[in-house]
Amino acid sequence: MDENKSQRNTFSNSLGFILAAAGSAVGLGNIWRFPYLAAKDGGGIFLLVYIILALTFGFALLISEIAIGRKTKESPLTAYKKINKHWGFIGLFAYAVPFIIYPYYCVIGGWVLKYAACYFAFQADAATEPGFFTSFITNPYQSILYCAIFAILCFVIVYKGVEKGIEKYSKVLMPALAVMVVFIAIYSLFIKHTDADGVTRTGLQGAAIYFIPNFKGLTFTKFLTICLDAMGQLFYSLSIAMGIMVAYGSYMKDDVNLSKSVNRIEIFDTGIALLAGLMIIPAVYVFNGVEGMKAGPSLMFVSMPNIFASLGKPGAVLGMLFFFMVLFAALTSSVSILEAIVSSMIDKFKWSRKKATMIMAGIEFLISIIVCLGYNVFYFELKLPNGSVGQILDLFDYASNNVMMPLVALFTCILIGWVAKPKTITDEICKNGEKFRRELLYKIMIKFVAPVLLLILLLFSVGVFS
Ligand code: PHE
Repeated sequence: MDENKSQRNTFSNSLGFILAAAGSAVGLGNIWRFPYLAAKDGGGIFLLVYIILALTFGFALLISEIAIGRKTKESPLTAYKKINKHWGFIGLFAYAVPFIIYPYYCVIGGWVLKYAACYFAFQADAATEPGFFTSFITNPYQSILYCAIFAILCFVIVYKGVEKGIEKYSKVLMPALAVMVVFIAIYSLFIKHTDADGVTRTGLQGAAIYFIPNFKGLTFTKFLTICLDAMGQLFYSLSIAMGIMVAYGSYMKDDVNLSKSVNRIEIFDTGIALLAGLMIIPAVYVFNGVEGMKAGPSLMFVSMPNIFASLGKPGAVLGMLFFFMVLFAALTSSVSILEAIVSSMIDKFKWSRKKATMIMAGIEFLISIIVCLGYNVFYFELKLPNGSVGQILDLFDYASNNVMMPLVALFTCILIGWVAKPKTITDEICKNGEKFRRELLYKIMIKFVAPVLLLILLLFSVGVFS
């Protein structure tokens, strides 16, 4: 235990903390997952629900987790127990989430790598061909190969314990990615395309679909699906309800202004997601129409090459930069997921870092292979309780984001709201005399609104209402 404590590094200042937490938070969730969900759910309503949830729910949970971490100075497996001795099981549930997410995160990391490799090999044209994505994922060797390279990169970083080293690059590359996303988002408003059957669609029309909620034909079930999607996405994107932010909080210094840091992380993460949506959705609408918006996980991969192609030669260079930076963002996030999996094993079983990384990364890679095979050898079409149809990857995604995370979040709300009381958290937030402006909102959220909503959505997600 003590040995553990003495090893616990802290972030030297609040900027270091924010950057590290943002590095974990900003990743494929923002750039790949948010746009495809927003598109699938028809744009505007999803966006509205997401923003409302982020400002209320997301903020309450994010700040709770970081405060739990900083207060207990322990990793998630033991931190919850320290808040209340009967509630240690939350740590175990929370641990399951990164364990489920990591294998498929590596698969998508492999997809990004494939596209990056394609652009770097000056084969931008190939990436634009309609069957490119499908023929890639249906080829088991290809998808496993790229996934393996991505997984090896993560493995090496965590094995050597050099995640801190990549922060150096992330200070440059993450803002660069943000600038690029803004640039492409603006550009995509101005694209125009005429179909073979003579229909012309513009980027501005696509942006209108993205921004303006359309309540026509909205049923109750559809609305619940949107809420469930938005909530799962929020957890995923902010890296909450899985113990990771508890671990980050435990490294945070006591004199850092917690609520301010949380605001910054939230604004940055949500900002990137909204912009990524604006970059991708109008383009999908322009090139593939409303039907194309239902593409699901493949959305980013089929739409971005179209945008780059429409830019001509400079587009190929832009594509190169884009996929490279997305790859980097994916890597900083996946490293934080693997780190969470590995460090808990080190804490719990006193394994060495090398042993823990080898065993856990090995197990996870075997699961990644199964996920890859879900698109070819083991292909099936599984109907999920929220009505969508998916393969193994979607099943994993659903299990973690729509079932496990709401469960962890619900338990956290009950623990903080009713058992330990919100004061435990607000005291931690204000312990240096800081102001906590959203305190009342926080209390209402964590005690009443969040648990009730979580319970409804959880029941819906396991199919009780269908
Ligand atoms: N939040 C990260 C993203 O948006 C993903 C992630 C999930 C990171 C779980 C850590 C833990 O891509």
